[in-house]
Amino acid sequence: MTPSDLKELESTLLNKVKSSDSLRNLDNIRVSILGRKGEITEYMKSLSALGNDERKKAGQNLNSLKSSIIEAISVRQNELEAEELEGRLLKEKSDVTLPIRPKTKGSIHPVSQAMEECVAIFGQMGFSVAEGPDIEDDFHNFTALNIPPEHPARQMHDTFYLPESDEGEKLVLRTHTSPVQIRTMENSSPPIRIIAPGRTYRSDSDSTHTPMFHQIEALVIDEETHMGHLKGCIIDFCRAFFGIPDLPVRFRPSHFPFTEPSMEVDIGCSRENDELKIGNFGDGANNWLEIMGSGMVHPKVLEFGGINPQEYQGFAFGLGIDRIAMLKYGIPDLRTFFDADLRWLSHYGFDPLSIPSMIRGL
Ligand code: PHE
Repeated sequence: MTPSDLKELESTLLNKVKSSDSLRNLDNIRVSILGRKGEITEYMKSLSALGNDERKKAGQNLNSLKSSIIEAISVRQNELEAEELEGRLLKEKSDVTLPIRPKTKGSIHPVSQAMEECVAIFGQMGFSVAEGPDIEDDFHNFTALNIPPEHPARQMHDTFYLPESDEGEKLVLRTHTSPVQIRTMENSSPPIRIIAPGRTYRSDSDSTHTPMFHQIEALVIDEETHMGHLKGCIIDFCRAFFGIPDLPVRFRPSHFPFTEPSMEVDIGCSRENDELKIGNFGDGANNWLEIMGSGMVHPKVLEFGGINPQEYQGFAFGLGIDRIAMLKYGIPDLRTFFDADLRWLSHYGFDPLSIPSMIRGL
């Protein structure tokens, strides 16, 4: 190849590169020049037919041609990329004057809201959250809680019974969150300090009862926990949840098979002209509202949970989340909670983006 042939070849190839009009096209050109069957590659192959000196010279020429092509390709590639970006920027430009598309925002259901507030309050007291299954076996829901078969308390629970499991276990929809006490004792050892929020079921329906409802259970067990701790914990919780620092809280003797002694917990309220107000009474005690059951864990229950009652003791309590949500947010009928009516939800629901709403109870 004469020097002028070489020059001509170079300018033809460079023109090709420069005239490429897209990145894909440029790549095809690169392959046609430098690829395995490319023009320059073919020239390289033909060098073997030449004599030593000639081959060396021609080889050098071809290599420098190759470098200038590679250089040109990279320059062109940068140009094409810039053009492409420019084009996209122009095409995809957004029109900031367009009106926004209305977006619907969901809201937090009052039950979720109340549950989160409870978890936040107990979290600050050092409790952690435990869970158990909605479909419970008879042992965890009743027997281990000191409610043997034929015990009258079983009738009071209006239990939904399910077909037996394959292993012949009697199954129920759990009637309270107390079985989580047993499951926690089985799976851990004291000190225990848990709360268990969740769904519970009883065959019951009126303005304050629905077949599915929610409870939150608390369980504390260690060597020295006593009634004073139970009372302090419950009073602090009630005042934090309702946001009323001097909320009157009353403990009334009661009975549960799984606690001894047992107490029902009432909070002070007043009823004036059909209006129910939680908290201080103004001119004195006017009314009480029962909001939870509580007591010192029965020694038999500790034994069922695999804990030695000679060594450990503790307290437990359980309350209806839906009920305290109705009271705190002023919602009159429980059944509306589960109607899935969007108008109801947007009225009683909570703004998901408002963080203070989550910790209002603190
Ligand atoms: N499980 C009881 C109920 O559903 C409440 C409770 C829990 C009472 C723990 C005492 C201790 O009514």
